[in-house]
Amino acid sequence: MLTNKPMNIAHRGAKGMAPENTLAAFQLALSQGCEGIELDVHLTADDHIVVCHDMTLDRTTTGKGTIAEKSLAEIKAYDAGLWFGDEFKGETVPTLDEVFDLVPGSIMINVEVKYAYEGRMERKLIEFLRRRDRLNHVIVSSFDHKCIRRIKQLEPETKIGLLYQAKLLDPTAYARSLDLEVYSLHPYFQMLDAEDVTKAKESGLYVYPYTANDEKDLLMLADYGVSGIITDFPGRLKTLLQDR
Ligand code: G3P
Ligand code: CA
Repeated sequence: MLTNKPMNIAHRGAKGMAPENTLAAFQLALSQGCEGIELDVHLTADDHIVVCHDMTLDRTTTGKGTIAEKSLAEIKAYDAGLWFGDEFKGETVPTLDEVFDLVPGSIMINVEVKYAYEGRMERKLIEFLRRRDRLNHVIVSSFDHKCIRRIKQLEPETKIGLLYQAKLLDPTAYARSLDLEVYSLHPYFQMLDAEDVTKAKESGLYVYPYTANDEKDLLMLADYGVSGIITDFPGRLKTLLQDR
């Protein structure tokens, strides 16, 4: 028996069943019982924070081109649901404000910064989190650890998470060596082992591996004692953890 269940974190919303990073995907994840959501952010040409994985609009919208070269109004004119299925027609690329309006304050939001935009993203994001007064329920993560350091320096209250894809020799030692009060580790799940998890937790770090979907992987991570699991299928994870 586990003493505590991992937090159920919906990757880009319920990405497996709805168009990623749309309000429909976040709404579906909430209805499936997720306890946290993960999303990706970029900056528009007129400095709005929008929720999208890629730097370009091509893969997930009816538009083409780079987010950084378009205004919010231009981006809003494109459909972000049709590529996934006709029933999602009318979805648009949401602003971070729209997602925060939708998601209750009790749900953890993991904001992944994809690109720093020469320091503009860090400043805009901190300004945003202060305005929304949700610092306590937000983790800001990135593969760009220099960006994460700037965010922590701008606002020491921010909970920061380190994303990584490599099999690090000692992730906890690395995180602690930064002297930044790192909140959480976000490893690619196949690069993680039980020893990494134990060591991190003993040091007070939370561990949120991404992105596991198969039942055997979800159960393996739960057995490791991770703090949360980032998954495209929050409904599946909820069912699996129900009896544990
Ligand atoms: O934050 C975890 C995970 O989302 C990182 O990879 O490519 O899905 O953004 P990616
Ligand atoms: Ca992400």
